[in-house]
Amino acid sequence: MFDEIVNRKGTSCAKYDALETYFGYSDLQPLWVADMDFKTPDIINDAIIKRAQHGIYGYAKPTAKTYNLVKEWMKKRHSWEIDTSWISFCNGVVPAYSAAIEAFTEEGDEIIVQTPVYFPLFNSIKNNNRKVVRNSLKEDNGYYTMDIEDLKNKITSKSKILVLCSPHNPVGRVWSKEELEELGKICIQNNLLIISDEIHADLVFKKFTPMASLSKEISNITLTLNSPGKTFNIAGLNCSYAICENKDIKEKFDKEITKRELGSVNVFGFTALEAAYEFGEKWLEDLKKYLKSNITFTKDFLIKSNSKVQFLEPEATYLLWLNFKMTGLSHKEIKNKLLEEAKIALNDGRSFGVEGDSYFRLNCALPKIELERSLSKIVTVF
Ligand SMILES: Cc1ncc(COP(=O)(O)O)c(C=O)c1O
Repeated sequence: MFDEIVNRKGTSCAKYDALETYFGYSDLQPLWVADMDFKTPDIINDAIIKRAQHGIYGYAKPTAKTYNLVKEWMKKRHSWEIDTSWISFCNGVVPAYSAAIEAFTEEGDEIIVQTPVYFPLFNSIKNNNRKVVRNSLKEDNGYYTMDIEDLKNKITSKSKILVLCSPHNPVGRVWSKEELEELGKICIQNNLLIISDEIHADLVFKKFTPMASLSKEISNITLTLNSPGKTFNIAGLNCSYAICENKDIKEKFDKEITKRELGSVNVFGFTALEAAYEFGEKWLEDLKKYLKSNITFTKDFLIKSNSKVQFLEPEATYLLWLNFKMTGLSHKEIKNKLLEEAKIALNDGRSFGVEGDSYFRLNCALPKIELERSLSKIVTVF
């Protein structure tokens, strides 16, 4: 089913239809923005069609079932016992993140992000007139770890939030329990709120630990953001949720969501979330197998071709953090070659932070035959 080539052109699809806007060329093979070229499972499509047949699309509200399905999903997929009263729905992880920044900090406050990282996580800080403090990840032969000593040195009286991307986009780490515990300890000692973006939590190839599941103390200072958007390829339905055990933090967050009018979720968003969390596990397991085989395929392809392009197999996500340093070319030269010669659209590594120099992010969630076509072009050019 994941081998099916679906024509996405002309569907108001950012990945294909906005190539000219973002890259200056419309004839590129798009392996950039983080959605998949696979159809969402039938159980979701059927639920949406059934809901559409009703014919009235007024304002939507989550029901007890919606809350319960999120709770059950956390329990069965991540062994995390939550209460439905901890959940707030919102129309996207990034909107929720931006609202949280405003709710918990003042202009000029410092927010720590572990770069390179998904760019809205630092852009939202700047857009809200707060200060981005970079705690760069440490890289050793393509494997990234947290730089705890640097983090300790970066904390000041103005530091208010530590932003965690878990699993991490773009470096593909699933943080270990021990890494998260150490991070949590520092945040408790320094009165930092943890915002944990866990949107990629279901697409993991090893055990994932939700930050707030570690201990009561850590749960008490953590706001978790998540959504079925990446997992089931329904990002365009704009349905996300926050989980927070601490009543005061949740109340403050909910107030900001109301103030910014972000709490009204698309009616199809709820329909899709419910179908996904009730019936989607089998499809998700099949998807993960296909993604893993695409990752291995990419690795083998680059090795067999003696390519100078390298990457380390991610522990999560379908996003490959390609390292072009061995080509000896400048970042601009690599970028131009990708666009003008290989005709491939990848995410520019620099957009994830200065650490992304000579890196580009490749989205391998597409039919293998198409992936092979793109890799052949990359290998020919580099
Ligand atoms: C880490 C991370 N957070 C959030 C998002 C986007 O979330 P949403 O579409 O719900 O705003 C993405 C999308 O790529 C992501 O990678």
